[in-house]
Amino acid sequence: MNVVSLFSGIGGLDKGFELAGYNIIWANDFDKYAVQTYKSNFNSEIIHGDINTISLDEIPDHDVLIGGFPCQPFSMMGSELGFEDARGTLFFRIAEIIKSKIDKEKKPKAIILENVRSLKTHNQGKTFATITKILEKNLGYKMYSTILNSANYGVPQTRNRTFIVCFANHNAVFTPPNEIKLECTLQDLLENNVPDKYFLSERIIPTILSNGTGGYNAKSEIDLPIARPLCATMGKMHRACQDNYVTQNGRIRRLTPRECARLQGFSDDFVIPVSDAQAYKQFGNAVTVNVSNAVATQVRKILEEMGEWQ
Ligand SMILES: C[S@@+](CC[C@H](N)C(=O)[O-])C[C@H]1O[C@@H](n2cnc3c(N)ncnc32)[C@H](O)[C@@H]1O
Repeated sequence: MNVVSLFSGIGGLDKGFELAGYNIIWANDFDKYAVQTYKSNFNSEIIHGDINTISLDEIPDHDVLIGGFPCQPFSMMGSELGFEDARGTLFFRIAEIIKSKIDKEKKPKAIILENVRSLKTHNQGKTFATITKILEKNLGYKMYSTILNSANYGVPQTRNRTFIVCFANHNAVFTPPNEIKLECTLQDLLENNVPDKYFLSERIIPTILSNGTGGYNAKSEIDLPIARPLCATMGKMHRACQDNYVTQNGRIRRLTPRECARLQGFSDDFVIPVSDAQAYKQFGNAVTVNVSNAVATQVRKILEEMGEWQ
């Protein structure tokens, strides 16, 4: 099954599909550091560039399209929703790519998109309504959506994400992949002999451990057995009410990039060729490999049952 991956980042989504037996033939991201990490870990081609400026003809025909696209509000133009409502957004570009394949009678069999949990309520639900109309009405897919938490798929991180799963064949019935019992904690994933730079100085500890202030009033907690969601800005160090801190050898520290990789389901042979700052951003942005793999396996099963897997 040939896959095109959009907004590939470092390939968390791609890794899950690769492990489920799919063949990634083309990937794309406009962040040069993400592309550097991707190239260090995949044999498949990744094109560095803005997807809006890459010619539609350059994107190879494929069976499955995957992508964790950035969420942007759509303008609503009247009640008849069409492509116009999404114009100028990255979702519009995804739709254009699919449309270009349909026009060539090379309609992808399945589309899997990932986004933040709040996609459904974003812009008072208008964003999701437009996405649904475009995928179902304009492009003719049978669409399912579900919110999956990484902690239910084997990694100790609370991370709720929306997955949109579409099939060209309307006989397809998608149900969320079975959850599995979590058998490890964040503490099980910690590295030993961590360099001093990851430990907090005595001076910064009171700030990091203070509770949220003003509009953001949250309780400071460290050593959580199930990590809070890793976020793309975690390299900047947030307070302990938003970010993950652990105690080791009696001292408090932040997570290392390798620990972030583990919390996102990447195995230890995943090469991290970039600076810590970039690595934190990349792992914070990634799709958890285990969750991607569970979805990819479920989609594979459905395609096999329908005789469409090749
Ligand atoms: C949420 S991340 C995707 C993470 C990825 N799915 C993973 O599992 O590692 C979104 C990615 O979209 C990329 N991106 C945003 N706008 C883009 C554009 N116009 N063209 C290409 N890539 C873009 C960002 O650089 C970022 O890596």
